[in-house]
Amino acid sequence: VKTTPIPTPPGLPFVGNAFAIDRGFPLGSFQGFAEEYGEIYRLNLPTGSTLVVSSQALVHELCDDTRFRKPVAAALAEIRNGVHDGLFTAREEETNWGVAHRILMPAFGPASIQGMFAEMHEIAAQLSLKWARHGPDTPIMVTDDFTRLTLDTLALCTMNFRFNSYYHDELHPFINAMGDFLTESGARAMRPALTSVLYPQAAQKYWEDIDILRKTAQGVLDTRRKHATGRKDLLSAMLVGVDPKTGQKLSDSSIIDNLITFLIAGHETTSGLLSFTFYLLIKHREAYRKAQEEVDRVIGKGPIKVEHIKQLPYIAAVLRESLRLCPTIPMISRQAKEDCIIGGKYAIQKDQRFALLFAQSHLDSAVYGDSAKEFVPERMLDESFERLTKEFPDCWKPFGTGMRACIGRPFAWQEAVLVMAMLLQNFDFTLDDPAYQLHYKQTLTTKPKDFYMRASLRDGLT
Ligand code: HEM
Repeated sequence: VKTTPIPTPPGLPFVGNAFAIDRGFPLGSFQGFAEEYGEIYRLNLPTGSTLVVSSQALVHELCDDTRFRKPVAAALAEIRNGVHDGLFTAREEETNWGVAHRILMPAFGPASIQGMFAEMHEIAAQLSLKWARHGPDTPIMVTDDFTRLTLDTLALCTMNFRFNSYYHDELHPFINAMGDFLTESGARAMRPALTSVLYPQAAQKYWEDIDILRKTAQGVLDTRRKHATGRKDLLSAMLVGVDPKTGQKLSDSSIIDNLITFLIAGHETTSGLLSFTFYLLIKHREAYRKAQEEVDRVIGKGPIKVEHIKQLPYIAAVLRESLRLCPTIPMISRQAKEDCIIGGKYAIQKDQRFALLFAQSHLDSAVYGDSAKEFVPERMLDESFERLTKEFPDCWKPFGTGMRACIGRPFAWQEAVLVMAMLLQNFDFTLDDPAYQLHYKQTLTTKPKDFYMRASLRDGLT
């Protein structure tokens, strides 16, 4: 086969392209290079060479689990200091991944998630009450309030633990420890290996934060053992579950790894989704009107019930379109299992790492046409969504791929639809600053930066 060279942006000796990447907003640099160099380019970084891929066709090929795997490198490798071989950070060959995956899949299934509806509803109602009390003249810090929502919901639904984030100005010590742990994990991944000794205080705080996370989770676990309840949540699934394949149970340490993992993997992703969606709706009044009209027609003024969740196709389309334009995990990593050719022309060596840049492949005009960069929820209505994903497999990947795809998707979906419905039912929203334009804050995930809105009650609270 005649192969084609893969372009590389010009770099410097030793550091390669490191200085060409915006530290605060790497995604912007990655997307900029994609516009310039096309569907595949090579970045040489101190951590090694990465091929950044951004067309639907190449993303589709790299999603093949028989040829490519998820590598655990960079920030993910650092997060392993706190949660080891938990689901999100496990390496492919680690047996605990399979054991936990098989035990937890049913617990994340539709019936089990529907059983969490009442508790999700309770936290969403706390948020509505807070915004109702603020009144229409108070700017709402959207990402902060949605993060409180997603954390409280996860802790309550997965392990019956209450952070009560809406009742305190200060966040629970667990939440602060987790935030700092994630930030420092990211920072450690950016530092060349040996320079970590130059940051002894950061290292001490890092291990103290890990201790807070693990001790809190251990406390929750001990309490549950002492006071058996009939609760069917993820914690009880992990305590009683037996892996059908190996007959193994999860050790206490594995249970703690996974409890913390759910909070890490589930909070900013879902809160970012809600924040972007409100931004997009406020900017697109026609879509906003249709979404609110659907809620009024299907639910009316009464309480939202679990049956309603499946009866809101326009809201579902809005959420899908929001995840297309603003995927809160904008890229994932892959690695070649063998030497191979991709795209019929690019030669790849075994172990080569890739970044699948969903934030860019989701804009592929071969799939989404001239309106690829526009917010058009209609294209994501059930029928046309099915048609698109059938004709262009892997053209929409916000929840990752294959065996390592998001296990929390049904959880996130039910929560996001419920919250959208409750908020649109009760409030009208506007931008705090009408001139606000979207810009991003990027950590492990992305979210809108400095985004404030105002909420005025439509009638009373329902
Ligand atoms: C994995 C996205 C919500 C738990 C993933 C991956 C993505 C993703 C892209 C794959 C990561 C990779 O390949 O490295 C999202 C988005 C969410 C969301 C966009 C919300 C809108 C949640 C929630 C939970 C969760 C609510 C927990 C309750 C996990 C776990 C994994 C994962 C445990 C690792 C699965 C494995 O490797 O076996 N998620 N996620 N996620 N997610 Fe989510």
